[in-house]
Amino acid sequence: MKNYIKADEWKIIEEGFDAHYNKISESIFSLGNGRMGQRANFEEAYSGDTLLGNYVAGVYYPDKTRVGWWKNGYPEYFAKVLNAANWVGIDVVIDGEQLDLAKCEVLNFRRELNMKDGYLKRDFRAKTKSGKEVKVEAIRFCSMADDETGAIKYTLTPLNFSGAITLTPSIDGDVVNKDSNYDEKFWDEVNKTTQTNGGYIVMRTKKTGFVVATGMKFNILQNGVAIEPTTEAIEKEKYVAAKVSLEAKQGESITVIKYAANLSSQNYKQEELVDQLNATLDRISIKGFDTMLAEQAAAWAEKWKHNDIIIDGDISAQQAIRFNIYQLNQTYTGEDDRLNIGPKGFTGEKYGGSTYWDTEAYCVPFYLSTAPQKVTRNLLLYRYKQLGKAIENAQLLGFKNGAALYPMVTMDGTECHNEWEITFEEIHRNGAIAFAIYNYVRYTGDEAYLGDYGLEVLLGIARFWSQRVNWSDDKQQYVMLGVTGPNEYENNVNNNWYTSTIATWCMQYTLDVAEKVKAADAEKYAALVSKTNLDEATEFGRFRDIIQKMYYPYDEKRQVFLQQDGYLDKEQILVKDLPASERPINQKWSWDRILRSCYIKQADVLQGIYFFEDQYDIDTIRRNFDFYEPRTVHESSLSPCVHAILAAKLGDEARAYEFYLRTARLDLDDYNNDTEDGCHITSMAGTWMAVVEGFGGMRVKDGKLSFQPFIPEKWSSFSFHIGFRGVLLNIKVSKEGVQIKNASDVETTVLVYGKEQLVKANDELLVEA
Ligand code: BGC
Repeated sequence: MKNYIKADEWKIIEEGFDAHYNKISESIFSLGNGRMGQRANFEEAYSGDTLLGNYVAGVYYPDKTRVGWWKNGYPEYFAKVLNAANWVGIDVVIDGEQLDLAKCEVLNFRRELNMKDGYLKRDFRAKTKSGKEVKVEAIRFCSMADDETGAIKYTLTPLNFSGAITLTPSIDGDVVNKDSNYDEKFWDEVNKTTQTNGGYIVMRTKKTGFVVATGMKFNILQNGVAIEPTTEAIEKEKYVAAKVSLEAKQGESITVIKYAANLSSQNYKQEELVDQLNATLDRISIKGFDTMLAEQAAAWAEKWKHNDIIIDGDISAQQAIRFNIYQLNQTYTGEDDRLNIGPKGFTGEKYGGSTYWDTEAYCVPFYLSTAPQKVTRNLLLYRYKQLGKAIENAQLLGFKNGAALYPMVTMDGTECHNEWEITFEEIHRNGAIAFAIYNYVRYTGDEAYLGDYGLEVLLGIARFWSQRVNWSDDKQQYVMLGVTGPNEYENNVNNNWYTSTIATWCMQYTLDVAEKVKAADAEKYAALVSKTNLDEATEFGRFRDIIQKMYYPYDEKRQVFLQQDGYLDKEQILVKDLPASERPINQKWSWDRILRSCYIKQADVLQGIYFFEDQYDIDTIRRNFDFYEPRTVHESSLSPCVHAILAAKLGDEARAYEFYLRTARLDLDDYNNDTEDGCHITSMAGTWMAVVEGFGGMRVKDGKLSFQPFIPEKWSSFSFHIGFRGVLLNIKVSKEGVQIKNASDVETTVLVYGKEQLVKANDELLVEA
């Protein structure tokens, strides 16, 4: 765990330069706007340890799979969002010496991410080897208001000398992915141009053929006054730059304002890209940096109006929750149903920027409550559009008749994961996709979605489950063999309770939805029956039979659901009795030892109890929590949040808070020693859930919001915003009670501690403690 980020309510601050932390900070201080994003790499050259990262959402490369031993059914490739052209570069040379913080004496350094207004700022003073001292201030952002653009204001002041300085703003497309399987470069150059005050490169991805045009335009100011110095165009393969030579005077600032834009063939015809890019660069450079920055602040103010969580009395918790919300908004804005949420967002390469079950299981609740309905609907439509590929994927594995298996990892619907125990066995992900449909409809009341799109997806998923189980003559029950549950520290197990539970739930939900759609619109239903070749009597009959006769492992003695058959045969040593030196076990133990142990990576049985809590009484929840949590090592970032919510439900406020802290500051404090690879974006949605569903106790009950809040001891109050069916609520929990403000024109009834409360339009009420 690190502790170098300074506490502040609205800012993430790093003071002093420690090169060891640079890659961690590059992740933490990342910028994005849903359409593109980048790690917090320096503008000037840096020869120290760094991970260069610029990403354009949805632009990926199918990197040929690399495995030790090929298994039939493995996907051909792993799709990864590519490191794209770097538009932040501004090389600085002072009297022949390159400004490079790895080679200079760094006299002071401060990096700050202003989450309120949405920009990154860096100030430093550095002394070159020959003793020349400069002061630099760099501000940059990816525009939320105009999501194909970004801008940088880079100001350098010579402090103890006058002399020749060259500044070279560039666009560098000659980049690599660190995670490239065969050390290939993924881009080909299409064309490029340099101008006196800018330039662009157009590049095409190999195989996938995405074309991205990245360009810049810049202005130079000396002492705040625009000048037009001579520039020299530089062109290399996949690289354009313009070298600006100046005579700098001691104490007089030189500023480069660099405007950048990234346009992709996903959104324009290829032949129009360059014209559109030039028009975009003209538009933003005429608008100017200050106006763009003001628009950025306004766009973020609008986000915060619906997203902010205020925690009084605990700056570190306040900073952490805002950081989580900020990063989620930078990653996904919901404008485009072809895009999704990679577990690392735009902050690193790990997980390839692809879509996982994380989206449905963890991110959906956040976007449902904090963004317009369309945003979650787009996440659902993304999967709807990939149904055909999910059916193909199931067919490849031998399933028939429209059975759909959604991939564990995907970009365009094709499975990319290539470890058999996950690709073929971690099939519970199918259940999360069905659950997200249920969650969306429960939350929004948008039942029309079911007939238009939802039922078709549900049917594919239910068909898969109905073929994946088999009848056990021995047990006289259906069983589900050879699976991996959410706890990936067990592979190829039989009858994982969570997987079997979500499987039958999916089948039941499909039956319920089919009935609903049929009753609401018989014609639409008939069309769907014909489109999907549904044999209602036989197929639904089988679903019902499986639902009735499914086997779920259970331990009578302890009265808990068993994670899988044989789980109790394992040596039951609790996590608290494991020496600290042996943790994390995924770094200290062999895989074989992990598989034979009782240790649980992340919520598994408890994930099911979290999803379906209404089906279990509180004693059942407590028994299972008390049994499983002490065996859980929480070595997935997705783990603590579910435990925080369940601990809160069980009234264990202290533990709920403990789990919350683990999830909230995971990246800021680099808990798992892996933030340098990128931030854990999808688990950040879990942090939000821990506050709203955990401390706020928020649930949807029969179409109404229900709250059961408590305040963590260290906090004096906390408040959050919720959008629900056209109503905008702010819920503030303090020692006085629960204050509910309705900032919309629609009145609503909510439940607070189980009692109905009417909150009139544009009104507020206090439910006293
Ligand atoms: C977790 C998975 C998750 C993936 C991406 C893994 O460590 O076990 O549940 O989908 O990370 O976040």
